[in-house]
Amino acid sequence: MCGIVGFTGARAAAPVLLGGLERLEYRGYDSAGIAVFHDGAIQVEKVSGRIARLREKTEDGALTPGSAGIGHTRWATHGAPTDLNAHPHLSNDGRFAVVHNGIIENYLELRKELIRDGYVFQSETDTETIVHLLEKYYDGDIKTAVMKTAARLEGSYALGIVCTDTPDALYVVREASPLILGVGVEENYFASDVTALVSHTKNVIYLDDGEFAKLTPDSIKVFDCTGCEVKKPVSRVTWSVEAAEKGGYEHFMLKEIMEQPAAVKAALTPRIHDGRVQLDGFELSAEELGGVSKIIITACGSAYYAGCSGRYAIEHLCRVPVQVELASELRYADPMVDEHTLVLVISQSGETADTIAALRECKARGAKVIGIVNVVGSTIAKLSDHVLYTFAGPEIAVATTKGFTTQLTVLYLFALYLAEKLGRIDADSYAALVKELQHLPRRIQQTIDMNWQLPKLASRYASHSLFFIGRNTDYAVALEGALKMKEISYLHAESYAAGELKHGTIALIEENQPVIAVCCNEALMDKTLSNIVEVKARGAKVLALSCKGNKKIVSQADDVIFIPRVETVFSAALAVVPLQLLAYYAAKEKGCDIDKPKNLAKFCAKGHKTRLIRSPTRLWRYKTLS
Ligand code: BG6
Repeated sequence: MCGIVGFTGARAAAPVLLGGLERLEYRGYDSAGIAVFHDGAIQVEKVSGRIARLREKTEDGALTPGSAGIGHTRWATHGAPTDLNAHPHLSNDGRFAVVHNGIIENYLELRKELIRDGYVFQSETDTETIVHLLEKYYDGDIKTAVMKTAARLEGSYALGIVCTDTPDALYVVREASPLILGVGVEENYFASDVTALVSHTKNVIYLDDGEFAKLTPDSIKVFDCTGCEVKKPVSRVTWSVEAAEKGGYEHFMLKEIMEQPAAVKAALTPRIHDGRVQLDGFELSAEELGGVSKIIITACGSAYYAGCSGRYAIEHLCRVPVQVELASELRYADPMVDEHTLVLVISQSGETADTIAALRECKARGAKVIGIVNVVGSTIAKLSDHVLYTFAGPEIAVATTKGFTTQLTVLYLFALYLAEKLGRIDADSYAALVKELQHLPRRIQQTIDMNWQLPKLASRYASHSLFFIGRNTDYAVALEGALKMKEISYLHAESYAAGELKHGTIALIEENQPVIAVCCNEALMDKTLSNIVEVKARGAKVLALSCKGNKKIVSQADDVIFIPRVETVFSAALAVVPLQLLAYYAAKEKGCDIDKPKNLAKFCAKGHKTRLIRSPTRLWRYKTLS
């Protein structure tokens, strides 16, 4: 995943590009570059490493004057993160410069063809083929050159292009990678994400796949893949500039953890009216629901764990079978999905390649898809039949926090909505649970306030590999807690369903082994307590997480983290918060790069677009789509 940005206007482009890239750094941070049009030529500056190095090299942009340009921050896929492999890439004749987010799957054959044609490559990237194709197809008409180039590309791309023949113009085209245009006053912009735009403009245009646009300081023209001009609506971004900045916190992750009460409130408030849950502009009719035989939840990473937790809420309240599937598995699983399956696709970014592929697979088999997504206008939002936005606001830290709790919140709302529609819940319980849900933001705040001792506990427990255990909803929390710890502190952390420990893993428990026991599910409290006793008997050091007032746990565990008392069905939204903080403080103590952990990016756009087809032998096989 990479970030791209572009600016054209009357003022200097480089400072705008550098500022935009800094906001996009979460999308990739191993190298960066800008290309600015100046004095009849395109000046390119690029470096391996962070944007700060690019700032230094260009003296905050002063060495790259000019008022139109493009920029890129990279997360290497093809070729090491070196200066040469950094974007922008220049055509051999110096006429075009290109920045690219995505992956060109057929780049090897294109590269061979272009080398045969006499083009000289400077880098190992897939992107460089694009800029040479532009040169090859250019005969004075840029739109045609871009369209011919795009027609040759297989894979995903959002491209930003500048050309010396049109000094104040930027060209963009997208296919399966995010791209947003910013509409300013006598200046215009593009970026991979609105976070790079909000300090300049809140008026944006979301490009669709296959669309191409030309931006000059005073106009934006958008064309469809046949070259016909299309009128695009201008949307208003509601995120504030502050929401996309650190606001005094040392890290975005900490800021985003602290924002959870507000984010959960934002997800709840517009959907509860007069004590009833309403979905966003759509209804599932009793007829539609009557035909649903099962629900599949699919997602990757933390979003998958939100799904694991949501499953308990939906099954408990609605009595409908729910399967939770990793999108990276489901897409290749020849899944048992048909028009009687309701699919919930969860994704913070809305751009995770495996999740998109799983969604397409389910839709192709006739399922109705509801996307639970944070980023407005993202691919998953567009492909879903209905969307429930999580309203978490921009999430910059790579490790998700408020993205996760708002996904849980939407799942809880959905479970209550469905339970009522299906007539599986009585009026009193429904009213009580809706009320309880409305208390969540306050209780999350209390959870944060109660746990001031977490930095100390982090240094006591995060010393070597950790086990996280729990049952039922607590197990889903344990899974997410362990993932957070791994992602940002690089400590080995495993999660187990507490009852499974004795079937093998207990062999690893020895003197001083840290075990984090999630124990918020009242009904299963004694069961998990017995697992705590088992590991303690083998020397483990136990940090338990439980609801306030649980005296039994105090006598068994070495240390206890409390959350306020809450209905078990919603407890994950509170219980996960101290575990996010535990991981945060463990990573901080180790001096890790918390917002940008090594080897990770905010979402994973790698992967081929495939479709399941029936082969002549009647066995299913996968075909890579062009
Ligand atoms: C991974 C991230 O690449 O994608 C995880 O490192 C994230 O933190 C996962 O949970 C899924 O992302 P999304 O955007 O689909 O929720």
